[in-house]
Amino acid sequence: MEALRNFFYDKKVEKVLDIGTGTGKFIEVLKKSFSEAEFFGVDPDENSLKEAKECFPDIVFQKMGAEELYFENDYFDVVSLSMALHHLPKVKRGLKEIKRVVKPQGWIIINELFSDNLNPAQEVQKMYHHFRSRIDRLTGVSHRETFRKEEILQIIRQAGISIQFFFEHKREVNLIEEKGALDKMTEKMKQKLETISERPEFEEMQSQIEEFREKALEFGFQPATNVVIVGRKK
Ligand SMILES: C[S@@+](CC[C@H](N)C(=O)[O-])C[C@H]1O[C@@H](n2cnc3c(N)ncnc32)[C@H](O)[C@@H]1O
Repeated sequence: MEALRNFFYDKKVEKVLDIGTGTGKFIEVLKKSFSEAEFFGVDPDENSLKEAKECFPDIVFQKMGAEELYFENDYFDVVSLSMALHHLPKVKRGLKEIKRVVKPQGWIIINELFSDNLNPAQEVQKMYHHFRSRIDRLTGVSHRETFRKEEILQIIRQAGISIQFFFEHKREVNLIEEKGALDKMTEKMKQKLETISERPEFEEMQSQIEEFREKALEFGFQPATNVVIVGRKK
């Protein structure tokens, strides 16, 4: 993300915490801006952390949710949360913790996909995402539908984070171009649906898989646009 590299190139950043790090995908992005920094990654999901540790053996990964961080106050120069805001069961509490552990002169980076102004191929990705997130909610896992861009900015401002700047990031790719990719996706949807086979929503959601396939063949499948926000605690 060139805008991040340009903004941070002359700023001293020694410690970076990536929250909701998953398999560490966003750390890979951040390393391009903070090549000298020491990284820490946290996530409640142990399986993802195991993969992250294999990819980045030098980084400390710990099992932790955003709502309760086991770090001192004012500890990090940069704290990031990527594609995870809509996963937090307690958004306000999570953002409060982020503010607590970042230094007063430090930076908060929020990278989040949004649901408005999407092209038809991105609408197909939204269908897929919302299908999966609905099943998560039905099975007791915190996973909201995607926020609108303005909602995200409002949540950040209301949390007492002053936004220094933000930009949109869009990947111009069709993820079902590769042979077999759409079959894999529909298979994943079917497997996920099986987890609610006893529920009344099952049948209705079964028909959504075919609808998804048709739309994907017509329009393609492109990741949603993200808003990347750089802020500071007030
Ligand atoms: C879509 S993944 C994003 C992974 C990575 N940050 C990225 O940008 O690709 C969302 C991550 O949020 C994590 N998550 C869920 N609940 C969380 C919580 N309460 N606190 C922190 N992370 C959470 C999930 O385990 C998952 O790894």
